[in-house]
Amino acid sequence: MIKAITGTKDILPSDINKWLHLEEVVRKLFTCYNYKEIRTPIFEDTSLFARGIGEETDIVSKEMYTFIDRGGTSLTLKPEMTASVVRAFIEHSLGASQPLNKLFYISPMFRQERPQAGRFRQFHQFGAEALGSQSPLLDAEMIQLPYFIFKELGLKHLSVKINSLGETEIRDKYKKVLRDYLSDKIERLSPESKKRFETNILRIFDSKDETDIQLLKEAPKLIDYLDDKSRSNFETVKQVLKDSGIPYEVDTQLVRGLDYYTQTTFEIVSSKVGSQSALCGGGRYDFLVEELGGKSTPGVGFASGIERVLLALENEDALSLPERNVDIYIIRIDETASKYLHRIANELRNQNLVVDFDYLSRSMKAQMREANKFNANFVLFLGGEELERGLFTLKNMKSGKQDMIGINTIFENIKEFLEKLNAAKTT
Ligand code: HAM
Repeated sequence: MIKAITGTKDILPSDINKWLHLEEVVRKLFTCYNYKEIRTPIFEDTSLFARGIGEETDIVSKEMYTFIDRGGTSLTLKPEMTASVVRAFIEHSLGASQPLNKLFYISPMFRQERPQAGRFRQFHQFGAEALGSQSPLLDAEMIQLPYFIFKELGLKHLSVKINSLGETEIRDKYKKVLRDYLSDKIERLSPESKKRFETNILRIFDSKDETDIQLLKEAPKLIDYLDDKSRSNFETVKQVLKDSGIPYEVDTQLVRGLDYYTQTTFEIVSSKVGSQSALCGGGRYDFLVEELGGKSTPGVGFASGIERVLLALENEDALSLPERNVDIYIIRIDETASKYLHRIANELRNQNLVVDFDYLSRSMKAQMREANKFNANFVLFLGGEELERGLFTLKNMKSGKQDMIGINTIFENIKEFLEKLNAAKTT
């Protein structure tokens, strides 16, 4: 039997309501903050990600789904959205018509990581990118947005971690300091950290190795080397979070796994999802647009993994969603019903009612059973001698009360029918 590829997941009808609800909350919040949706292709030129995210990052060096198409072009399924959004921003000169572009997305992403709880090979992110301003108010907004989305969804066990990586020169200076500090400890570092010592020394802070963690405890902190501008921006971010009632902790080792960050970085983690605890991450990237060939434009953004958020909601038992019931289930008493069935169903569906009936030529008893299974609010009995007199019976399934209604009410006076339906709902 052919099965779904490891690390991918079917979203079945029994799960879809959670996804739709999450997407609705996400869209509502982004709209209230005046962000506009952007959609970009699933695959891009491989060099976009190599240049944008950084050759030495885990994503680019180990995790991308890259393939050569029949025309000989190297393509990659997008592992994240920031590089794609920036590419679209440059390609369509979005900066020319608007000094500040506030954009959001909801999209599948692809990374060939080792699958585990909360980690997939095809996963989904919602996120935002604001291009065109250096204001730290936007850095704070990128923390507020996911935090308020998580809160509105019902999550409680959240912690917000923030850090500042400073400007590039400061970071370069600090890398030297860190290299000096670690130079006599290299032998004790894990093999992965030894490699990172050479290629991308800041990423040593991402190590989960106990010895590495101990060695780094006493290491000099990047935050102590910050330039004045980064320091003052960081203070503003913290102040806005305070004003917004968002608790946070400064995590001086939060470097994040992508190369484009400058100044503010952050993550929101949940204590309820196991080791893959980051529900979202992001930060400022003031040089990415330029690096990808555009005019110098500052940017800041975040992205959140939807599967992880849903897992956190499930583990916190925080999401209970009412299913939309069938409003009216039409029961065919006999063949005479067929003449009116579709006209009635269409008229009612036009009124935005959920209407269903039997497609399997089942007995009345079985039709009734299905109406109950769908939790139908009403059952409409159609056919028999009643129908010959131009009538049908409408039964309120909650109260058991029945009404006889003229079939013409639906065709000629649907308003009157809806009023009757509403009145019947409350009886
Ligand atoms: P990231 O930290 O690589 O950042 O991913 C953001 C979020 O996506 C993670 O916190 C996690 O919730 C989710 N995620 C990542 N990988 C997986 C996976 N394999 N399975 C399930 N969920 C996953 C970025 O992607 C940046 N583009 C964020 C950003 C936007 N920075 C600035 N703007």
